[in-house]
Amino acid sequence: MLELKKISKSYSQRGIVLENLDLVIKDGDSVAVTGPSGSGKTTLINIIGTLDYPDSGDVVFRGRSACSLNADESAAYRNRNIGFVFQDHLLLPHLTVRENILLPLFASDIETAEYEERKKNASGLMKRIGIESLSGKYPFQISGGEAQRVTLVRALINKPSLLLADEPTGSLDAANAGILAELLEEINREMGLTLLVVTHSAALASGMKIHLKLENGRLIN
Ligand SMILES: Nc1ncnc2c1ncn2[C@@H]1O[C@H](COP(=O)(O)OP(=O)(O)OP(=O)(O)O)[C@@H](O)[C@H]1O
Ligand SMILES: [Mg+2]
Repeated sequence: MLELKKISKSYSQRGIVLENLDLVIKDGDSVAVTGPSGSGKTTLINIIGTLDYPDSGDVVFRGRSACSLNADESAAYRNRNIGFVFQDHLLLPHLTVRENILLPLFASDIETAEYEERKKNASGLMKRIGIESLSGKYPFQISGGEAQRVTLVRALINKPSLLLADEPTGSLDAANAGILAELLEEINREMGLTLLVVTHSAALASGMKIHLKLENGRLIN
């Protein structure tokens, strides 16, 4: 479903970060990418999500090049296909949990019936992920672990086929990290969602089917 072809990326001060990096991810795979701080994990995830662009190489998603899209097209590509979970929850403070979760619906170009369907789906997902009771609360009224589960529901609301998670348990304690890791595994298994997780956590990585290490700009087994 997703293929990275000879991706290279450098920054002027730092030099080469990714060098001729190749990767193939099949539908439904779960992949963990580990690697030292500064090895380029976030850069890689941002390039896959078209939040950043490679200097050369291509990201091919379901047969289409994602690197040649213009700004509007890449926003549509992201909205339609990709869910993001980052280390920090990035919930908007003046919106309730439910409003935060529904937010991506306003950015997507969908029919009213589909909108209603996804809204209904949101309630099911909130229940499934165990945050339904938080619906009317504001981000400052919930814990970090809860906020990260809210982010997960928000990432799933537009039914993405690929979930990109950058250090999703990085700011959580062991118990909450364990809950989130288990949820990610279950979602991959039950919803057939393809999962790419970038992490320093051996525990989170161990739940993924494929383990890759980012070293010297490339991915190795
Ligand atoms: N926008 C940028 N401008 C300049 N240098 C950058 C930029 N983004 C990343 N870098 C550099 O590229 C390298 C890779 O950064 P990246 O954030 O991808 O690493 P990482 O593996 O995610 O690290 P961490 O585990 O600490 O999150 C680092 O040396 C970083 O300083
Ligand atoms: Mg990073």
